Amino acid sequence: MDKKALEALLKDMSLEEKVMQLVQISGAEYEADAEITGVERGQVKDNVKRLAGSTLGIWGSKSLRRIQEQYMSEHPHHIPLMFMLDVIHGHKTVLPCPLGQGATFDPDAVRKGAELQAREAAADGVHATFSPMADLCRDARWGRIMESTGEDKLLNSRMAAAMVEGYQGKDLKDNAHVAACVKHFAAYGAAEGGRDYNNTELSEHTLREYYLRAYGEAIKKKPAMVMTSFNSINGIPATGNRILMRKILREEFGFQGVLISDWAAVGEMINHGYAEDQRDAALKGMLAGVDIDMCSGCYSAHLEGLVNAGIVPIKMLNEAVLRVLNMKNDLGLFEDPFRGLDADVTPVITEESRRLAREMVAASIVLLENKGKTLPLGKEKIAFVGPYADTKKLQSSWAFSGDDENTVSVWEAASEVYEAENIKSAAGCTMLDQDAVTAREIRHIDNWQDINNCLLAEAISVAEWADTVVLCLGEDMAQSGEATSKVSLRLPAVQMQLLHEIKKTGKKIVTLVFTGRPLELMEVRELSDALMVCWLPGTEGGHGILDVLTGKVSPSGRLTASFPYTVGQEPLHYDMYPTGRPKPENGPGPYTSRYLDCENGALYPFGYGLSYTSFSYGDARLSAQTMSPYETITASVTVKNTGDRKGSATVQLYIRDITGSRVRPIRELADFKKISLEPGAVEEVSFVINEEMLRFWTAEEKWESEPGKFQVWICDNSRDGKPLEFQLS
Ligand code: BGC
Repeated sequence: MDKKALEALLKDMSLEEKVMQLVQISGAEYEADAEITGVERGQVKDNVKRLAGSTLGIWGSKSLRRIQEQYMSEHPHHIPLMFMLDVIHGHKTVLPCPLGQGATFDPDAVRKGAELQAREAAADGVHATFSPMADLCRDARWGRIMESTGEDKLLNSRMAAAMVEGYQGKDLKDNAHVAACVKHFAAYGAAEGGRDYNNTELSEHTLREYYLRAYGEAIKKKPAMVMTSFNSINGIPATGNRILMRKILREEFGFQGVLISDWAAVGEMINHGYAEDQRDAALKGMLAGVDIDMCSGCYSAHLEGLVNAGIVPIKMLNEAVLRVLNMKNDLGLFEDPFRGLDADVTPVITEESRRLAREMVAASIVLLENKGKTLPLGKEKIAFVGPYADTKKLQSSWAFSGDDENTVSVWEAASEVYEAENIKSAAGCTMLDQDAVTAREIRHIDNWQDINNCLLAEAISVAEWADTVVLCLGEDMAQSGEATSKVSLRLPAVQMQLLHEIKKTGKKIVTLVFTGRPLELMEVRELSDALMVCWLPGTEGGHGILDVLTGKVSPSGRLTASFPYTVGQEPLHYDMYPTGRPKPENGPGPYTSRYLDCENGALYPFGYGLSYTSFSYGDARLSAQTMSPYETITASVTVKNTGDRKGSATVQLYIRDITGSRVRPIRELADFKKISLEPGAVEEVSFVINEEMLRFWTAEEKWESEPGKFQVWICDNSRDGKPLEFQLS
């Protein structure tokens, strides 16, 4: 439909019809087994169900076709219904959770992953996914860190941009892509105390410098949608925040797509104490520029009245409706309301999608320890022990459209690789401690202690038989994701007991940690010969992990979120500010900025990860010592694979602005490159530094660079390397 035809359609619509384009209702209104990701509000009225412009949480061409047929036949203008779904890290083929995808440091792979997700979701009738989540996360207590790519604004920017490109492709009409939704605008990841939905307090410069960056970069790729966040920022709920939405998002970032609220977030402004009642909430949402009200019922109940009373200008309403119609048009829904609803074309997991997922799993794994070259495994007898050893639950709480039965467990993959007489497995313990709380339940098991006693005895006998124990431990998948904040970052006590007991057998221990958040791993490190983080790896989890354990692939993943010594360090991130009293590198440093009982930095910092081979970095070089704002400097280093295996190095460029009108962090990631090297191979890696990379939100409240000295590191992680210096004139 061309622009004129769309405008004519808008003109012809009744006020009720227009309002309803701005209403999204739960898929549970149409399908009993819809995925409910928020608090249900009870049945919606008939007219709302008949006219609401979009729905979420349902998929599958058969049922969606039926729903679309009925909907369109009843709609006065036969405007199609839009189907949205949280396709976060996979629809049928589930990829590693986003935190794991970040660890690949490979935006191209992440783009391809998003393409795959889009292809599968589009073939299941889905029009839009609520992804990417571009929230910056510095607090491992916040369970949604699993849905992010971590603590760094540059890495998050590249990953979120790559996901938008992958989901949307070049043309949304092509049936192989879906609309992307950048969320949660804004600063949802800064929830105080790491407690989900909590207030955030951020100065203008912290907000702009850190928290807004990845949304901004992703929005440059023109996502069809942006979603508001649940939190309030500096006292104003994001969903009713006019400065954030109208000024920053629309005017400054130039976002022209559809702004959707998070689930019931319009109505929750009442709980926040910002709106008096539903009507006031609808008004505040509308004035802030929220186009679609997801599931709060405020718009459907009150927007018409507000427009009739002249409180919400009809022009404002029309603009919002037109944005929604435009999105439907961009998706080609007016020409083909049944796109992706061909009952014969259902998405299936293919060899190709499995290959992509498997490669991503292997690339996401972060090797933290490998004492005495314990890994890769050799021809020894191996026991796969632990609650993650033989489970297909390797997805996450945000992979509900993927089926567990398609998942390859660690044990299944091991059975393909090793002779049956050389491997054994045992669960060893339950996943969780008795009465542990997950997002939706309290996990109580009758006879929990008896069950664990039996499991432990079995595990010990299996360990005694083996030479090496691969101990598969971790967080339950229902303990990361939405509403899963925790004040403990330790593994469940029952799993730690298993580790201690296995240690007593004297066998080599390779610990695999399955997790959606950074954990405290000090004790685990002490007790393990090798230690690897496997995240929540998805469908091809077992295969990807075995590829690394056996040495078929050398690990190359890097942490994108700091793993702390203790939860007491949270929020924790590598790009901290210096202080007036810096702690000396060596020595206790009385009266300096430090903890009496802990390091300042992480146990395993951002950018950290080992390989089976080793790399040496030569002396870094700068092409010049000074640079004007119109010039560039090339920073280079020679990297050599000094080991005896092929491997990938993630070469990282960090910069520090030594003096500024505002204090600048001790270092910040400015660029990175992942290179693959054969044993003995040497590669020169170069980065171009330009003035734009040196800009920050100055004391003048402008994005500018300031003349002065800068330090540059080209190194292997955020803690290592020797700095060089240059001057910006
Ligand atoms: C989450 C969003 C999600 C939405 C729709 C909310 O509870 O915060 O991230 O996209 O539900 O499922």
